[in-house]
Amino acid sequence: MRHVIVAANWKMNTTPRDAGELARVIGSRTREPGVIRVICPPYVCLAAVRDAIAGPDVAASDGMGVAVGAQNVHHEAAGAYTGEIAASMLAGLATWVIVGHSERRRDAGEADELIGRKLRAARGAGLRSILCVGEQLADREAGRAEAVVGAQLLGCLDGADLADFGTEGGLPWLAVAYEPVWAIGTGRTARGADAAAMADAIRRTLVALGMRGGEDLPVLYGGSVTSGSIDEFLAEPSIDGALVGGASLKPDEMAGIVARAGLTAAARGAFAKPSS
Ligand code: PGA
Repeated sequence: MRHVIVAANWKMNTTPRDAGELARVIGSRTREPGVIRVICPPYVCLAAVRDAIAGPDVAASDGMGVAVGAQNVHHEAAGAYTGEIAASMLAGLATWVIVGHSERRRDAGEADELIGRKLRAARGAGLRSILCVGEQLADREAGRAEAVVGAQLLGCLDGADLADFGTEGGLPWLAVAYEPVWAIGTGRTARGADAAAMADAIRRTLVALGMRGGEDLPVLYGGSVTSGSIDEFLAEPSIDGALVGGASLKPDEMAGIVARAGLTAAARGAFAKPSS
């Protein structure tokens, strides 16, 4: 029985003045039991979001609140890295982090080896990671999508102790977001069946790498997810939720997406209440 997760990637949107209220509204309109909700605002809005979702009005009936995530983290613990944020600095601000998003691969030149170091730094600091992988359109058209994503996973997890990335305290330490690059912010989504096949391939790869419990790893779909398109993905038993970008800034959209995720969670049966 795998966890159901809906993560909101706000990207470079919102300010410390408005982020808290947006998070509170989204939290109060997405109180579906069994769904792990994560809001990932810009760094400077983490504290505002953390404070805004601390109240009881965002908790679901299973007691689970909204978690806060960062959108990136540096791979080193401290030092001369101007403008960067170390994992330990996120203590008290975030419990999750997005690692390896394709916009960072594209804009900051992040490669798999570096992403793997971020993953290990995050785990070392007690942060749960959403690791993003996904192919370019040319890869999909050439029939190379699974090979590309498999290579990304190998590159990112090389050197990691996979035993550290299972489930603990009722929550997974790692979720993988399959985000085909050509579907991000384009309004064009993958087909549900293709995303499901990729989710299965991702879990197979992790099991082959020796990850105990790899078959229980949550795999999310990301790329132009909306309340209208989420059903195509969550109708697939292999898909465990979504990483939502543009639509995650809209409370109506998030309400629809998490409501659909709640159906999946209910069908899978309730999890024990996580401890963090
Ligand atoms: P999008 O972004 O939903 O706006 O396509 C998804 C993501 O980048 O995680």
